[in-house]
Amino acid sequence: LDELEFNTVQIDQHGPIAVLTISRPGALNALNAETLSEIARAVDLIVEDAEVGVLIITGAGEKAFVAGADISEFTQVQSVYDGRELALSGQDVMSRIAGLPIPTIAAVNGYALGGGLELALACDVRVAAGTARLGLPEVGLGLLPGFGGTQRLARLIGAGRALDMMLTARQVPAEEALGMGLVNYVADDALTRAREVAELMLRNAPIALSLVKEAVRRGLDTSLEAGLEIEADMFGLATATADFKEGVDAFLNKRRPAFQGE
Ligand code: HXC
Repeated sequence: LDELEFNTVQIDQHGPIAVLTISRPGALNALNAETLSEIARAVDLIVEDAEVGVLIITGAGEKAFVAGADISEFTQVQSVYDGRELALSGQDVMSRIAGLPIPTIAAVNGYALGGGLELALACDVRVAAGTARLGLPEVGLGLLPGFGGTQRLARLIGAGRALDMMLTARQVPAEEALGMGLVNYVADDALTRAREVAELMLRNAPIALSLVKEAVRRGLDTSLEAGLEIEADMFGLATATADFKEGVDAFLNKRRPAFQGE
């Protein structure tokens, strides 16, 4: 993985933690078509690597995580069809990230605006630097969020808070984002804290982690009753794993579990 060459994306993998860094110096890491397709390819490759247990996504430099979709490419949008396709292509990348079987953490090291916040929302957990600012300012461009923001933000923080952010286009500072549950942690160094959070996740059984993700993701799209059924199904699957036996045996024998992901 370390040797893969992309133009606007770097992968840095040490053991079970892979860090995907978006790097477009001069454009605050804005997502152009090339970057979006490189993120999609990189994510596919990361998941194929059985050694990787957690994916962290961050932005290069101190100033920005990702300042949005690349606005300079918007002049190519000439029709309703083009606009819809632009949204769908970005949504596809975000949904692939949201659907990954391993935990994902956004290390929000600076501006996370528009498509940048939507990328962070596609991750499971968000860690923000104290200086980070998060927002969905699309209405200021005559647009609305198109990479999943109208849906994922409202599900995460509730429709009222999401509408306030989207209708005012304001930038929410890190501490306020923490208070509203938009980010999980605020730290001086977002990437360092993200690695610490990843280490906590990596102590646990990998299949259980993927089943938790699936239960939450699928449950959000359905009724409580149907969601509880999904939970019971996932629970049943977990009890069929060797890691379940290992986890219980380790607890009963007062030792640390050695999970194999089986
Ligand atoms: C292209 C961008 C960019 C973006 C910044 N840049 N954001 N280029 N797309 N989203 C470029 C600037 O043009 C500038 O290039 C350089 O990065 C540095 O940015 P500045 O504006 O000079 O920095 P600063 O004054 O510090 O302001 C930072 C900022 C501002 C507040 C983050 O850059 C900003 O408002 N950016 C746009 C944020 C935004 O609206 N994002 C949402 C996009 S819409 P030069 O060459 O001049 O130095 C979106 C929709 C997604 O994401 C869904 C689509 C379907």
